[in-house]
Amino acid sequence: MDIARTPSTPDGNPEMADAPPAPKQPPLIRREDYTPFPWRVPETRLEFALGIETTRVTATLVVAPNPDSAPSQELRLSGDGLEPRSVEVDGQGANDWRMDDGDLVIALSPGPHEVRIVTEIDPAANSQLMGLYASNGMLCTQCEAEGFRRIAFFPDRPDVLSTYTVRMEGPKELFPVLLSNGNKVDEGDEHGAGDAWHWAEWHDPWPKPSYLFALVAGDLVSRKDSFTTMSGREVELAIWVRAEDLPRTSHAMESLKKSMKWDEEVFGREYDLDVFNIVAVGDFNMGAMENKGLNVFNTKYVLADPETATDGDYDGIEGVIAHEYFHNWSGNRVTCRDWFQLSLKEGFTVLRDQMFSQDMQGEAVKRIEDVRLLRSVQFPEDSGPLAHPIRPDSFREISNFYTSTIYNKGAEVIRMMRTMMGAESFRKGTDLYFERHDGEAATCEDFVKAMEDGAGVDLGQFRRWYSQAGTPKVEVELTHDGETARLTLRQTVPPTPGQPDKLPMVIPLKLALFDRATGRHRGEELAVLVGEQTTFEYAGFAEKPVLSINRGFSAPVSIEREASVEDLVFLAAHDDDPFARYEAMQELIVGHLVELVGGGLSEAARDSARNAIGGALRAVITDPKLDDSMRGELLMLPSQTYISEQLLVADPGRVHEEREALKAWLGRTLEAELVAMHERASGASSGIDQAARGARKVKTQALVFLAAGNPALGERIAAAQYDSAETMTDRQGALMVLCGLTGPERTHKLIDFYNRYRGNPLVIDKWFSLQAASLHPNTIEHVKALAGHPDFTLKNPNRVRSLYMAFAGNPHAFHAASGEGYRMVADLILALDPLNAQTAARFVPPMGRWRRVEPGRASIMRAELERIAGAQGLSRDTFEQVTRSLD
Ligand code: TRP
Ligand code: ZN
Repeated sequence: MDIARTPSTPDGNPEMADAPPAPKQPPLIRREDYTPFPWRVPETRLEFALGIETTRVTATLVVAPNPDSAPSQELRLSGDGLEPRSVEVDGQGANDWRMDDGDLVIALSPGPHEVRIVTEIDPAANSQLMGLYASNGMLCTQCEAEGFRRIAFFPDRPDVLSTYTVRMEGPKELFPVLLSNGNKVDEGDEHGAGDAWHWAEWHDPWPKPSYLFALVAGDLVSRKDSFTTMSGREVELAIWVRAEDLPRTSHAMESLKKSMKWDEEVFGREYDLDVFNIVAVGDFNMGAMENKGLNVFNTKYVLADPETATDGDYDGIEGVIAHEYFHNWSGNRVTCRDWFQLSLKEGFTVLRDQMFSQDMQGEAVKRIEDVRLLRSVQFPEDSGPLAHPIRPDSFREISNFYTSTIYNKGAEVIRMMRTMMGAESFRKGTDLYFERHDGEAATCEDFVKAMEDGAGVDLGQFRRWYSQAGTPKVEVELTHDGETARLTLRQTVPPTPGQPDKLPMVIPLKLALFDRATGRHRGEELAVLVGEQTTFEYAGFAEKPVLSINRGFSAPVSIEREASVEDLVFLAAHDDDPFARYEAMQELIVGHLVELVGGGLSEAARDSARNAIGGALRAVITDPKLDDSMRGELLMLPSQTYISEQLLVADPGRVHEEREALKAWLGRTLEAELVAMHERASGASSGIDQAARGARKVKTQALVFLAAGNPALGERIAAAQYDSAETMTDRQGALMVLCGLTGPERTHKLIDFYNRYRGNPLVIDKWFSLQAASLHPNTIEHVKALAGHPDFTLKNPNRVRSLYMAFAGNPHAFHAASGEGYRMVADLILALDPLNAQTAARFVPPMGRWRRVEPGRASIMRAELERIAGAQGLSRDTFEQVTRSLD
């Protein structure tokens, strides 16, 4: 029955008769359905007649039957919102073609052909920021994952590699700079148009999939530099920005040169073109994109100076520049066969950028930061309705799978391989991988196989990390009798959507057994758990040792153990593994808060736990052997998300209350030490060396506790820090603390900050974020007002995220018991979905956590998700996320 044409329902209910047709479910794409494309496209020529409102694209494809595929009589070219203006085959106008669901299907006899298709697009109307779009008067592209089909009809899939030649022409005044992938081979003025019109032709010698295509045209200037590769080739480097941003590009350039050097030294990877261009764009859906020879970046990950960027921003730039550069090998030279293999490039490249940043900034703190991110974003994803393996089995919209699981858990999985096989064997494995698959579209299985062959190890059972979702739980028990310590490890992998039963994983756990009396251990051990349960024995312990386990976070699992407060305090003070030391502190605090939220803790028990935590933190503040960067980590309270994760169902209000109460108590109890630490650190320089950065970190940490314990004192010191700040780190830190207070300085400094930086969008983003993430009791009202601020717009993803991602991550405001926070985010999703579906869909996961939230709030969250699901004309992106979250 054709539902759309049914005149009325059987009972004639007029309401039902008016009901719209059921929306078509976007199809589910399955990994096991992969088939190679029937055609090869050895060469592609693209000609662009550029205009902000009309760009004409002439695409010429040389095609030939793919010998690895069954032959086909038709050529299906993906399209999204395109109409062919003309279709030619072998130089003749063709009639034997049809449109099917946006795609262009051309009848084609087996054999080589040349296919030429003309399309016209409107970059100014492209608010999705996928394909060719206009941003601030310039034109740029974003093609990953499936954006190329919004530019030209093409086999828009990563396993079709082609050599591209790109010709661009346009008005010189609007587009003085014309860039594409590879090398510029020619340029000139257009005949008959005086010098008003010009063109450039680029050629990329390396075959690539369409998702790596890029084009940029605009009024840009560049910082230029050069790099000499390990084989002595000179590479011209350029970072392209708007003229006023040029002074803020030096850090990005330094980061690029360091990345190029590091990849040669650590992975033996050399750059392979004569130029490497980076362009910064203000409107961008993600962080950056690794297009071959022409990386396109969100301005957030390029522009920095001490006045406007925090230490964290500097690190972010270094890390993302490295990430995109590293993709040149892990992603571009070896690309993905299909999008289910996304972690092949992303997980591996994240590991590479993490290793790089560890080498640049110091290993310990970077590792702690990476683990904190994993546990606050990926663990919740893995225990919720959107959980998926790092190599997913199905999707409806691939953009929804650019997740922390694919990226960060993907990196952890490869890091575990490295931990088990050792650095040298690991390098042999990656060398073989790059050599064996250079120029190919590979799979995760290809990667694992190359690692096995290169390193000479068996990763048979280890492969389950690619197919099973969910964070394994490892229960740990240490017993002692006579001279022997016995360690029993038992693993369970929780059920996840579509995967009710799990098999045991290979879990490498680094551990050390400490002698309580001397505070020393006899060396680190690696215990690899392969079965459900194993007992490991360690001889020669006259007394029960103190266990330090999952050192360096050697496996992405959650450890469950009954550690005494004394043991945790011992490890927090003595563990020589910095991560384990941090972890002991976190465990101490999380354990206490979980008990408190669960109720039933006597006042005496609470006081004794508080005193233990206070004592441990006091030791951290005063320990002269700690550097400030590490001290800052140890002083960080576990996040609300992480605490809530430990509970089956959490009452966000209660968790917040108890966490704030502990913070305030610590602020009062340690007031003298905190004030002294703040004063001492205020004497440090405003430079970017480790010591100065560490000092800034502990200064703001001190403010956080002081403001909680003694708001008047906190306000006074924060206002002074704001006024005397010589860096954005100090100024932003002070303003963050003031934003959570109700005193007058909050308003004064917010006004000052806005006026000081009104011309700088990246800093105004901070101004929105700080208010939306604030502890202030009226945050909801503030966010509503900010949504109406003249500087707020739904059209710029950075601005949307600065207000609403900060808000959705704000534990007290987003989870307001009234449900108002949920309503606001649902309203945002509905308003944003038609404009920028990809960004809209990214706001669904915070709402999708309803099963883990107490019933009152959970029912409101669910109702809001249902309201979204019922909306007309929902994008594939949001539709998929909302329905998965409701299942
Ligand atoms: N490949 C990019 C990266 O990880 C990710 C990316 C950039 C992206 N822009 C995108 C993914 C748009 C999907 C859509 O570096
Ligand atoms: Zn990437």
